[in-house]
Amino acid sequence: MTNNHTDVIRWEQDADGVVTVTIDDPGQPTNTMTDSMAVALRLIVERLEDEKDRITGVVVTSGKDTFFAGGDLNKLMNAGPADSAEIAAGLDHFKESFRRLETLGRPVVAAINGTALGGGFEVALATHHRIALDKKGSLLGLPEVTLGVLPGAGGVTRVVRMLGVTPAILNVVGQGQRMNPSKALKVGIVDEVVATADEMLARAKAWIAENPDAAQPWDRKGYRIPGGAPSSPALAAHLPAVPANVRKQLKGAPMPAPIAVVATAVEGAQVDIDTAFAIETRYCTNLICGQVSANMIKALFFDLNAVNKGQTRPTDYPERRAEKVAVLGAGMMGAAIAYVAALSGAEVVLRDITMDAAERGKDYSRRLLDASVAKGRIDEVKRDAVLGRILATDNIADVKDADLVVEAVFEDVELKKKVLAEVAANVGNDDVLLASNTSALPIGEMASAVDRPDNVIGLHFFSPVDKMPLVEVVVGESTSDEALARALDFVKQIRKTPIVVKDVYGFYANRVIAKFVDEALSLVAEGMHPASAEQAALQAGFPAGALTLFDEINMKTIAKIRAGFIADAKSRGIPFVPSASYPLVDRMLEEFDRPGRLEGRGFYEYDGPAGKRLGLWPRIAEDYHRPFVDIPFDDAKERMLVAAAIEAYQCYDEGVITTVAEANIGSIMGIGFPAWTGGALQYINQYNGGLAGFVARADQLRERYGDRFVVAGSLRASAARGERLL
Ligand code: NAI
Repeated sequence: MTNNHTDVIRWEQDADGVVTVTIDDPGQPTNTMTDSMAVALRLIVERLEDEKDRITGVVVTSGKDTFFAGGDLNKLMNAGPADSAEIAAGLDHFKESFRRLETLGRPVVAAINGTALGGGFEVALATHHRIALDKKGSLLGLPEVTLGVLPGAGGVTRVVRMLGVTPAILNVVGQGQRMNPSKALKVGIVDEVVATADEMLARAKAWIAENPDAAQPWDRKGYRIPGGAPSSPALAAHLPAVPANVRKQLKGAPMPAPIAVVATAVEGAQVDIDTAFAIETRYCTNLICGQVSANMIKALFFDLNAVNKGQTRPTDYPERRAEKVAVLGAGMMGAAIAYVAALSGAEVVLRDITMDAAERGKDYSRRLLDASVAKGRIDEVKRDAVLGRILATDNIADVKDADLVVEAVFEDVELKKKVLAEVAANVGNDDVLLASNTSALPIGEMASAVDRPDNVIGLHFFSPVDKMPLVEVVVGESTSDEALARALDFVKQIRKTPIVVKDVYGFYANRVIAKFVDEALSLVAEGMHPASAEQAALQAGFPAGALTLFDEINMKTIAKIRAGFIADAKSRGIPFVPSASYPLVDRMLEEFDRPGRLEGRGFYEYDGPAGKRLGLWPRIAEDYHRPFVDIPFDDAKERMLVAAAIEAYQCYDEGVITTVAEANIGSIMGIGFPAWTGGALQYINQYNGGLAGFVARADQLRERYGDRFVVAGSLRASAARGERLL
C-alpha cells in the first residue's frame, strides 16, 4: 500500500491557483476503489485543506482512458457477514473523504474524461459541477444494483438530493442505468457535455472562476429536496407507486438490492445528510456481505468477462472478421441472424427458396431499423447503410465468395446436409466456415456432407436473436480448432456472448431448461394449483412461469425434444428418468389439442392465435388441483432450481461444457436461470452449506419426489472434500 498520494493521484497547480488532481493508479489499468486509492484520496483531501488559502479551486480528473471504474469487485465478492464492520468502515472512509471534498470551501469540478461508473461516478458526485467529455463508448451512472449492491459511497444520498426521490430511483439508482454523456445530461447527473479534452479542462477552470462560492445545493440555507421529502403531501401521494413498481419488476425474485435502494433513498430523504449517509452505509454493508451480491458479481462480472475474453478460444489463430456472410433460410431465425450480421458491418446474402420469402426475411431488418430510427437510436443514413448490406435472393450463386455461411433452414438433417453441400459448391472457396443454427441435430452428421468437415460448426442462436445475448458454439467431432476460433470471432463481431459446447443432443442450454420446465409442470401433475406453480417459478427468480414457457415454446416442439432425449439416452445406454409432466403434455396435445400460444390455446387462454395471454385455462386446475397435497412451497421453488443445477453439473461432468464460467453464463443468458443465483453451477456453490449442503438437499428431494434428483458421484466426492466448482 502506498502512503504517498502522488503515487496514485497527481497534483498540479496553475498560476491562477487552481489545483488539478489527476487520479492515475499506476498499479491498475483503471482507477478502482482499492485500499491504496482510499489512502491517496484522503491524503489529497487533507492537502487541499492544508493549502486551502493558496487554492482557488480544484479540478478532479483521471490519467487513464476512463475516469474511474468503481468498486474493488474482488473485495466486494469475497466479503461475508464476518467482514461487515470492515466493509462499513471502508464505505465510511470514502464517504468522509468525499464529504470533506465537497465542503472544502472552494469550487470543485469533475472533468469526467471517460467512463465513470459506480464508485467512480460517486467521486464525481462529490464535486460541485460535472463536465463530461463526449467520448465514444463512455458510460456514466450508478449500476451497482445490477450486481446486487447499491452505491454506498454517498451515491444514493447525493443523487436523491440532486434530483428528488422519484427521479433518482427511476432514472439512476433503481435499475442502475448506464448512460452515454448526453443521456446523463438529460437525466441531470452531469451539468455539461463537451467535445474535446482541452475544452473540458478549459470549461472546468472557467466554471471555477465564475463560481468562487460554489457549494452543494444541500449545504445551502433553505435547501429542499426537489419534489419534496417523502412526508410532503406532494410526494406522499405518488411515492407508493415506486416500491410497487420495483416489486412488480422483481415478481417475487429474492433480490434484496432493488428493495434496499428504494429504502435507502426514501429513508435518507427524511433525515439530515449525515444520518442519510449512515443509513446508506448500513443497507449497503448488508448487501455486500450477503450471498446474492457475491453470486451476481461472480457471474455477471468475473464469469462474463472470462467468457467474453474468449478463455476457451484456441490461441494459435489470428482474429478474423466475417466480411461476407451467407444466411440460408430467411425464416424467423435466418432473418434475425441476417440482421445482427449486417449490423456488425458484414455484407449479408439472405437466401430462401423464393424471392418472396427472402424479401420477407429482409423486411424483419427493415422493421427493426425503422423502430430504431423512430426511437432516435440511429439515423436514417445508418438504417439505409445496414439495409443496403443485406441482399435478399433466391439465387444460390449469390453466395459466391462468402467467408461464413449460417444455415437456418427447416430442422431436417437430410435437408441441412443437402443445403450445406450445395452452398459449399457455390461459394467457390474451400476455406469457408459452414455453420448450422440447428437446435438439436448432430453437427458431426452434417459435416459428413461436405469436403471440408473440419470447417463445419454449430452456431445455436436463441430466439429472438436480436435480443438474446447468447450463442452456443457447437463443436462437432471433426470441427477444427481454427473453425472454433473463427466461430468465436464471429460471435464477438456480432457482440454476443459465446459458450462452447459439445455436439450432444440438447447441447447445454436445452438440457438445462428442459429440467426446469419439466419439474415445474410436475408440480401441477402432482396436484399443486397451476397458479401456485407459476408463482413458485417467479419466486425462484425465473423471468417467466414454466406454463407460460410451455405455451411460448409450443408443446409440439417440447414433445419432439423429449423424444430426442429419450432416444439419446437409449443410444448412450444411460437410464432415462421420466417426468410426471410428460402425461400432462401428451394430454394437452392429444386430448385437449392445446399446443401453445401460436395456436391461441395452451395452458393459458389467448385472445387469438399468437395473441395476448388472458388467464390460465381453468380445466387444468379442475382436473389436477388437489388442495390438500403436501408440497411445501420452498420445495416447489427449489425443485426447479436443483433439478436444473443437477443437469448443468451433469453437462460439466460429461465435458459438454468445459468451464464453470460458461455453465453459469449460459444458464443465465440462454434460459433465464435466475441471476441472483450466479448461474446453475454457482447455485450449487452458494447453497447453504456449500456443495455438501446442496447434495444433502438433493438427497432429501430425491427421497420425497424421485430419482430426478440423483446427484453425480463426482459431485458427491467434491462435496466430501469440501471443494467448490471454480
Ligand atoms: P422457419 O420455418 O421460420 O424458417 C425456415 C426457412 O428456411 C423458411 O423460410 C424456408 O423457406 C427456408 N428454407 C427451406 N429450405 C431452404 C433451402 N433449401 N434454401 C434456403 N432456404 C430454405 O424456421 P426457424 O424457426 O427460423 O428455424 C430455422 C432453424 O433454426 C431450424 O433448424 C431450427 O431448429 C433452428 N432454431 C430455431 C429456434 C427457434 O426458436 N425457432 C431457436 C434456435 C434454432
